[in-house]
Amino acid sequence: MNKKTILTGDRPTGRLHLGHFVGSLKKRVEAQNDFNQFIMIADVQALTDNFANPQKVRDNINEVTLDYLSVGIDPQKSTILVQSMLPELFELTTYYLNLVTLARLQRNPTVKTEIAQKGFDKSLPVGFLVYPVSQAADITAFKADLVPVGEDQLPMIEQTNEIVRRFNHIYQTETLKECEAVLSDVRRLSGTDGNAKMGKSLNNAIYLSDSEEEVKRKVMGMMTDPAHLRVEDPGKVEGNPVFEYLEAFDNDKTGLEELKNHYRKGGLGDVEVKKRLIKVLEDLLSPIRERRQEFAQKPDFLREVLLEGTRKARLVTQKTLDEVREAMKLNYF
Ligand code: TRP
Repeated sequence: MNKKTILTGDRPTGRLHLGHFVGSLKKRVEAQNDFNQFIMIADVQALTDNFANPQKVRDNINEVTLDYLSVGIDPQKSTILVQSMLPELFELTTYYLNLVTLARLQRNPTVKTEIAQKGFDKSLPVGFLVYPVSQAADITAFKADLVPVGEDQLPMIEQTNEIVRRFNHIYQTETLKECEAVLSDVRRLSGTDGNAKMGKSLNNAIYLSDSEEEVKRKVMGMMTDPAHLRVEDPGKVEGNPVFEYLEAFDNDKTGLEELKNHYRKGGLGDVEVKKRLIKVLEDLLSPIRERRQEFAQKPDFLREVLLEGTRKARLVTQKTLDEVREAMKLNYF
């Protein structure tokens, strides 16, 4: 049977953190055995709001690749590619731009929120406004069946499928394929400060590449139940990020239940619980960190992974583009 195609990706604007690990990296490692998986490093999309910081994007291509390899994404099984190295994506974007109205883009809830957050106002770059169209080009170029996303990316999938239907209808073809969003079943990991989202700009992230000392310091500084003042006091487990992380990473579920009961009853201090979390995170991160250091010493190998991944990916995008050009009567010669 033919394997289904998955397309996932990240903007290379920072190193990957525990939130990425829980939300997507773990799934990708599992999926690579059963699916035809493409992982896109979306540098062109990152540039839509970092165009003045090309060095940042460039540096993070390396960091993100190291993160992928160190968590166990296997370049023999998954295809890792760099968006800017696939010119077909930008040609497709140009054609799709005719099929989308300005009003429709302005209504895209994700873009709307981001524009407000970034305070673009009158200086909104057109490239930023139209990035959903470029993302539609990414997804359709690979004829992806499945696109694993967080809630915030659902409007991108909707907009992509609208473009697909419109294209196929106008050019009377079946070239483009609608895709299906795969929503993560795990709750998004909170930041160390209890903020609902872990993120670089929020300064509340634990990175896969953090040193043992950094992890210790960050866990020791984590928010807990603010009403749990003395060791004797009963504590709350719900909404307590330290327990949320234990829930996500501690494999000893029976031990964890006992710990939670003890904390609820009172008599268990935060430091004790945090020490357990540090141990649990070290068990997870130390092999990842070791592999990262090994790969970091092989820049030629990293380059080869990206070149080979991009070469394989291009065979797919070139084929799609040939079909698109034919449907649009652009196949003159
Ligand atoms: N928008 C995604 C993000 O911000 C990155 C991305 C770009 C992507 N193109 C994609 C994800 C195509 C999935 C499929 O993380």
